[in-house]
Amino acid sequence: MPITGIYGPDDFTDRPQGHPSTSSRAAPARTGAALPMPSLQWTDEVERATAPLYERVKHVIPSIEWPLMAPTIHAINKLKRERNAVIVAHNYQAPEIFHGVADIGGDSLQLAVEATKVKADIIVQCGVHFMAETSKLLNPDKTVLIPDTRAGCSLAASITGADVRLLRQKFPGVPVVAYVNTSAEVKAEVDICCTSSNAVQVVESLNAPTVIFLPDRYLATYVASKTDVKIIAWKGACEVHERFTGDELRAFRDADPSVQIIAHPECPPDVLAEADFTGSTAHMINWVRAKRPKRLVMITECSMADNVRAELPDVEMLRPCNLCPHMKRITLSNILESLLTLGEEVTIDPALAERARRSVERMMNLKN
Ligand code: 13P
Ligand code: SF4
Repeated sequence: MPITGIYGPDDFTDRPQGHPSTSSRAAPARTGAALPMPSLQWTDEVERATAPLYERVKHVIPSIEWPLMAPTIHAINKLKRERNAVIVAHNYQAPEIFHGVADIGGDSLQLAVEATKVKADIIVQCGVHFMAETSKLLNPDKTVLIPDTRAGCSLAASITGADVRLLRQKFPGVPVVAYVNTSAEVKAEVDICCTSSNAVQVVESLNAPTVIFLPDRYLATYVASKTDVKIIAWKGACEVHERFTGDELRAFRDADPSVQIIAHPECPPDVLAEADFTGSTAHMINWVRAKRPKRLVMITECSMADNVRAELPDVEMLRPCNLCPHMKRITLSNILESLLTLGEEVTIDPALAERARRSVERMMNLKN
């Protein structure tokens, strides 16, 4: 059914002014922790050590570019062992990061689940800030580093904890579900979190006739189309997925009627209406592994198409390429810098973290 109502900052005259706050901040790098910059020369040793990694990315990284990347990849992989660090990367990270240095890769849900199993002392989060916060919430005693604190998200920036309190005043007793693409401050105000992998299941788990679902208006619309629960939404949107249009997809199909199109549920409804499959980034990847289409259009951030093509070179990708500028703030250079200096460390006020953790853990404790 259509969403029941949609609200945004302009609907609350008593909304506190100011920029949406984040509940965590980067701590200064630890004094005395910095290690010297290693040599970044392309040597025989680097070539030998990185050859198996190049095998994994040879279909998406030209051989002429590898000598420019491999010394940094080699240095990062050595340093993470010395530091007892683990590198966690979202599916939207560039292939040299996703296939070259990451120990754990996946969608938001997989990264949250894997974060609870980490044995290393340090987690380097190659993704955006809310992902680093989620890792910190689930690993309060570990050091969580983000290579660039400016790696934000238009969804997380669209709503504050104060907005959630105003929604609760307007709809007393209605449970609130927050997409993980929110700050810890917002997670602390809601009943439960969800990701795009489990959003419908989470909404239905509350056994309520109406649920407030925030902040992504399009994911809310998608969830509403899959459940009888009435959905009240927030006016946030992902700046990457909201740019796709149904016309664009129809043009791909007109050019080749046999093409398969798969889309992320952060896309507008006219886009999803044209897609053969809709799912989270992990569900999309699993769909491609299972179906092996000849020609495919992936309607999501475009590094993911590179990461999938590296694994499945037989699938021809037609790529309407929308990059997430926040995800792309993470680079090999700043990952190396992060491991050398142990910056920037993500810290969250412990009292707020405890409330936010409850919302994430409640999601993770749901039975599949
Ligand atoms: P998922 O990986 O959970 O599908 O999320 C997509 C996304 O936009 C993360 O920023
Ligand atoms: Fe946020 Fe969209 Fe970028 Fe994901 S792709 S981090 S939802 S702006």
